[in-house]
Amino acid sequence: MNALYDHKITSVSDFEIARKKAIDSPEVFWSEIAETFEWIKPWDTVLQYDWSIPKTEWFLGGQLNITVNCLDRHVATHPDRIALYWEPNNPDDIAKTYTYKELLDAVNQFANGLKNQGIKKGDRVCIYMPMIPELTIAVLACARIGAVHSVVFAGFSSSALAARINDAQCALLITADGAFRGDKIIDLKAIVDEALTDCPSIKKSVVFQRTFSEVRWDNRSDVWWHDFVEGLSTNCQPTPMEAEDPLFILYTSGSTGKPKGMVHSCGGYMVYTAYSFMNVFQYTPGDVYWCTADIGWITGHSYMVYGPLACGATSVHFEGVPSYPKWDRFWQICEKYKVNQFYTAPTAIRALAKHPTKIIEGYDFSQLKVLGSVGEPINQEAWDWYATHIGKNKTPIVDTWWQTETGGILISSLGGVTPGKAIFATTPLPGVQAALVDEKGNPIIETAGEGILTVNYPWPSIARTIYGDHQRYKEVYFSAFPGRYFPGDGALRDSEGNYRITGRVDDVVIVSGHNLGTAPIENAINAHPDVVESAVIGYPHDVKGNALMAYAIVYDNIASSDELIQSIRQTVSDQIGPIAKPDRVLIVSGLPKTRSGKIMRRILRKLAAGEFDALGDISTLLNPEVVEEIKAALTKK
Ligand code: WT7
Repeated sequence: MNALYDHKITSVSDFEIARKKAIDSPEVFWSEIAETFEWIKPWDTVLQYDWSIPKTEWFLGGQLNITVNCLDRHVATHPDRIALYWEPNNPDDIAKTYTYKELLDAVNQFANGLKNQGIKKGDRVCIYMPMIPELTIAVLACARIGAVHSVVFAGFSSSALAARINDAQCALLITADGAFRGDKIIDLKAIVDEALTDCPSIKKSVVFQRTFSEVRWDNRSDVWWHDFVEGLSTNCQPTPMEAEDPLFILYTSGSTGKPKGMVHSCGGYMVYTAYSFMNVFQYTPGDVYWCTADIGWITGHSYMVYGPLACGATSVHFEGVPSYPKWDRFWQICEKYKVNQFYTAPTAIRALAKHPTKIIEGYDFSQLKVLGSVGEPINQEAWDWYATHIGKNKTPIVDTWWQTETGGILISSLGGVTPGKAIFATTPLPGVQAALVDEKGNPIIETAGEGILTVNYPWPSIARTIYGDHQRYKEVYFSAFPGRYFPGDGALRDSEGNYRITGRVDDVVIVSGHNLGTAPIENAINAHPDVVESAVIGYPHDVKGNALMAYAIVYDNIASSDELIQSIRQTVSDQIGPIAKPDRVLIVSGLPKTRSGKIMRRILRKLAAGEFDALGDISTLLNPEVVEEIKAALTKK
């Protein structure tokens, strides 16, 4: 077996040994794990960092290609092992499987297409695709030749896509004619066409034919995937990459304007995603692992593509949605593939839990060994439902806390090995030095306490910068508490040292597991011709975790109407995407502001949540009367 598995933690004492070693000698700890991979050239320096710049570099001088570790080295020993089981949106369509050898061949062939197109190491390639195997193939083909992929979730609008393409100056776009999502067909190519009217850096679009929908076509700029790869060799030499060369860019929302293009590098990212995947999910070769995320998010990058493949795992990738054709689809898939590890989001759990448990009865869950949760704090009801109905009160649940920026899971129990605790992410993984601080940055040293979560020491998969804006990277993550990484979350710690993440401490709202900055949504609303100013906040929602409410001030001559509200919602959908559409829009005459003019979002949050008694002292506001007005409007509805 692959030597990486020598580092699998299978008991509490293993965990204690690893944890201690990672603190006492982090460089030895991580280099021993890194040595289990194939490197073209070994590194000279394990770690160099200075968080005042900030800079973090792992395995300096080392050269590798991540696809060799994800594909070739498994093909060398077990070419016929299944890498992917692909389950289509419609259960009556044909499912596909890819062995490691088949996946490598497909990746190489597509990589040769990219090379023919003139794409080379360092070029950025945008991928805007449905959840089909070709998405994984496109991602890995970029990595094969050292091109930096920037996957944009296929639910984003044309203007969101254009903004991301332009920020990274992508040279090529890989997409599909359309996407199947439940009973809907989404015309991806039409969205792309609109985006590309504004993206001069894109020279070519490669279009996979998935829905066979009619598309607008331009022979100069569009090429079908099947024509692009036709006749090409299935051998492609992997491009040697420096450990610190960028592997990909992935955008995440910020609390101000533009999305942040988080840059991940090749070496450290590979080592950390593989190590954390193996340990958190307690993966053993032969197991079937299924993560229900989309590759458009970091969960898909780290725990559907790179982590599992680096471990030689067999994964299920699902194109569709949990509700189609019926609400038992997830359990059908678990049974069909005999899934051993199942990883999903609290929002999906809550949506599933809304349906009578009769739907679940009769499905065989006996294969399940670990259940995972990610994306937002899991609430007690969702945890209980998951533990009882899917876990049958015996399968351990891992609540995994991490971020696009962290590249991999930082806090989680290890399935069935370290003790879990309901609604707690529990303990940091070996090598992760988490700490709680108060608002001034003073560490909370008592074991039990509540404060702001920070990380005090580099781990290998931390994002290295924000593409094109290192200054912003420094300000957002390293300036609040100098010398510490600041993720933007609050947390509490129990007397045993278990962490529970309590939620964002900045203006980011997690809606259905999607991290949405309120500022870009406000910008979109403010661009509506009738709107003067707006404020967007999250309020509790029983399925989505949080829902979005927009308070908007409109021009004097405009009256509130259903049409106006719909058109404001539509503006957000057009500019950002349907996921960012506010659930409620309230037209107001003013927004509660401090005397220095800062909108009091805290008050707006309490109002939307109906917590009228918890507003605190509003007498110091510039305009306390608007609070009464909003209360009255909300009570009326
Ligand atoms: C934010 C990061 C990590 C992949 C999916 C989201 C929240 C994530 C948990 C969890 C409580 C969580 C945090 C974090 N979050 N996982 N297990 N418990 N909160 O990635 O879009 O970068 O969002 O999601 O607030 O900062 P992301």
